[in-house]
Amino acid sequence: MWIARPLLLVGAPLAVLLTVASPLVADGLRLEPVSDPVVKAECGACHLVYPAGLLPARSWRAMTANLTNHFGDNAALDAATTAHIAAYLAAHAADADGRTSKTMRRLPPEVTPARITELPWWTRRHERKDRVAPATLARNGARFRGDCKACHEDAERGWFDDD
Ligand code: HEC
Ligand code: HEC
Repeated sequence: MWIARPLLLVGAPLAVLLTVASPLVADGLRLEPVSDPVVKAECGACHLVYPAGLLPARSWRAMTANLTNHFGDNAALDAATTAHIAAYLAAHAADADGRTSKTMRRLPPEVTPARITELPWWTRRHERKDRVAPATLARNGARFRGDCKACHEDAERGWFDDD
């Protein structure tokens, strides 16, 4: 079995390479989860903690500027906490550091979506086969279309794979 050893030597680095590369080539989406304890606590009180990379910075700014009327709820916080959360979300947004996450595909630059579920990328992913029709939401125990965690159990970890 003289050939086994060289194969192993070549195989190990190759396996490492494939493991590292797979999240990039897979069809799914992997985002950085929220690591800030304040954002986690305050923005996870009523629904999942949305990874900041789901929306562009302009959306997070608009949202945090008007937490008194947050989709009909009052999510207002003191000024210092609000500023802290706004800065974190903007710094980790889909377009932070000049990059453009695939969640911003086909999003016109002059449009500031209020919701993730308004993004052209999101509606395209969910229009087929009534993926988020009322009956499907009910069956999955999702309270609204943006209740990602009901259907993507690792949503807070930023993982949205084919599952
Ligand atoms: C009622 C269930 C449901 C809800 C709620 C839901 N999704 Fe999905 N989503 C699906 C299904 C079904 C698919 C297609 C199968 C798949 O790829 O996992 C899908 C696909 C996706 C994909 C593509 C995955 C891939 O492999 O390409 C992403 C990304 C995604 N959803 C993100 C979200 C986000 C973000 C939210 C919340 C804002 C959300 N979804 C809410 C059911 C749901
Ligand atoms: C008092 C409860 C409450 C708190 C606290 C709260 N939210 Fe919400 N959030 C809501 C409600 C209600 C909705 C809309 C749900 C619906 O459409 O039925 C919502 C929706 C959202 C959506 C849109 C999801 C989608 O695409 O449909 C985002 C993003 C969001 N919240 C982010 C945040 C952030 C960031 C914070 C922290 C600053 C926060 N929320 C704190 C209640 C809250």
